[in-house]
Amino acid sequence: MAITLTFYGQSCFQIDDGTNCLLIDPFFTDNPVAICAASDITCTHIAITHGHFDHFADCEQIAKKNDATVFAAFEICNYLQEQGHENNEPGNPGGRIEAPFGAISFTPAIHSSSYKGIYMGMPCGLIVEFGGAVIYHAGDTAMFSDMEMLGQIYQPDIALLPIGDRFTMSPEMAGVAAEMIGAPTAVPMHYNTWPPIEVDVARFAPKDIDVLVMLPGDSVELSEE
Ligand code: NI
Ligand code: MN
Repeated sequence: MAITLTFYGQSCFQIDDGTNCLLIDPFFTDNPVAICAASDITCTHIAITHGHFDHFADCEQIAKKNDATVFAAFEICNYLQEQGHENNEPGNPGGRIEAPFGAISFTPAIHSSSYKGIYMGMPCGLIVEFGGAVIYHAGDTAMFSDMEMLGQIYQPDIALLPIGDRFTMSPEMAGVAAEMIGAPTAVPMHYNTWPPIEVDVARFAPKDIDVLVMLPGDSVELSEE
């Protein structure tokens, strides 16, 4: 079945095959580039890279409304449990959890993770195996050389990389990251949502990698290998 990848702005993506629908880093409320409200979203699963509001703020509402299974760091799942959401799959970098659509693995990310002043565990990237497709969502992170090894091990078809600088990578550093990972397609994210992370997306130009610039609301069909 066709797998559709939809971008909702900042680092929020949805992967949907008509049966399972995975939402990553939901951020609609207070997102200046959002095209819909959190209440408009339906999904079966949610994956969270880290606890910062621009990745996590709408998770509780959407998870509860949809009774969605949440994949996230141990501390984030504890927080959701305390808020009354029981359906959680906690993990930590290095771990892989099987899911009805495939699996989610947590990778390292060089960043921080807190929500409303609460420590939210290790920040993560995500390797999403969905049907036959492999998607690497890097979360918020600096570039690190192990990205090359992640590319070799997981062989992602597509890499979703933050390019907005200041909190993550510059477009040039993200270009180096994309080349190390080696996924044939790279999608820039985490830029131009607010002035502090405004960059010219044309600066993201990894060699021999197709750059797919998605605007909020854009969808693309992923081919299954
Ligand atoms: Ni962050
Ligand atoms: Mn962020």
